[in-house]
Amino acid sequence: MKKSSRVNHPPAVEVPADNRPVVAPIHQTVKFEFGTVDDTLRSLRGDRAGFFYLRSSNPATRQLELTLAELQGRDDCLVCASGVGAIAQTLLSLTKQGDHVLCFIETYGPTRHLIRRTLAKFGVEHTLLSIADLAGIERVLASRPTRAVVFESPTNPINRIADIAAIARLARAHGALTVLDNTFAGVHQHGQYDIDIYLHSLTKFVSGHGDVMGGAAIANAGLIRSLRPDFTVLGGVLDPHAAFLLQRGLKTYFVRYRAQSDNAQRVAEYLSTHPAVERTRYPGLTSDPDHALAAAQMSDFGSVVSFDLRGGLEAGRRFAEALQLFAMTASLGSTESLVMPPQMLVSRDLNAQQQELADITDGTVRLSIGLEDIDDLRQDLQQALMAAAAV
Ligand SMILES: Cc1ncc(COP(=O)(O)O)c(C=O)c1O
Repeated sequence: MKKSSRVNHPPAVEVPADNRPVVAPIHQTVKFEFGTVDDTLRSLRGDRAGFFYLRSSNPATRQLELTLAELQGRDDCLVCASGVGAIAQTLLSLTKQGDHVLCFIETYGPTRHLIRRTLAKFGVEHTLLSIADLAGIERVLASRPTRAVVFESPTNPINRIADIAAIARLARAHGALTVLDNTFAGVHQHGQYDIDIYLHSLTKFVSGHGDVMGGAAIANAGLIRSLRPDFTVLGGVLDPHAAFLLQRGLKTYFVRYRAQSDNAQRVAEYLSTHPAVERTRYPGLTSDPDHALAAAQMSDFGSVVSFDLRGGLEAGRRFAEALQLFAMTASLGSTESLVMPPQMLVSRDLNAQQQELADITDGTVRLSIGLEDIDDLRQDLQQALMAAAAV
């Protein structure tokens, strides 16, 4: 073989079948081949095990899918390149012209954009309600056929808690699918409810380290089978190396999620008694209006703490800029603490009445609490709250 051929056909290094690597290797390859046309065709028809083309599957992405499905308590999963990718591909796959979707004011902004702008271009209609409006949900579901109820719990950014059992019951009674963005709660929670599809941004708690993006749709086998062809052609593929990093993140997921929840609880308790803070929203706080519901639904309350600072936008700016240990940026769930000031939380797509229901004020700040020492975090928050109050 000439050298130019050899570099394209390097020597094979076989690992014996009885000599397994402890960490699964990354198959950083787009293509897999079989030796015969018949085997290739059988694989494409799903009549034999194996892989063919990365856009459909890869051992690293498949291992991640199987792990996530088990953690969420469902049969199967599809991973893709980002959380928004998972939401977009799921909604595009589920809906067609003339369908109706029920969605909520208290959600991650891009989810509202996808339903109210993107799906609307293809003739999908929607109703937008508050997640607390159970009577409204029942009225809308009874009044028109609805393809899907798309919601979150806890909601981004102010930690409202949806009554998951009630919403699932109403949707089931009226033949609508439930799609729950479970990113804030994590892949280990809410599996006990009658939810059809769980969506996740893996970028957050599954990665944990803020260095890789990914998304997942988790459901029972039949639904995943029906979504799979659309996911394959919509094309937001998760790279095998990203899948490897996410699988690695899962090894410490439970330790991180619980330690971050403990830190967040203590931060919320600290903020809730501070005179510069008007109101604190954390589902683990007994004073939180949704605490009882959260305690019934969740075992861990997550890393996000939202609060309203006295003094509005300018106090929020001074607070965020004074913090030393909190990065002023998007995202949540990673090991370092993060802050989003009120300027970054405005929902421009909502009208005045909807803004009021969303309950995001001029002073709302969102924190995601990391794994730093709680004394350091409290000290940093204390000096930043003093800076916020100083005019
Ligand atoms: C609730 C929720 N869903 C989905 C996403 C989108 O995830 P990604 O950034 O991985 O696309 C986010 C991101 O902040 C989120 O908070």
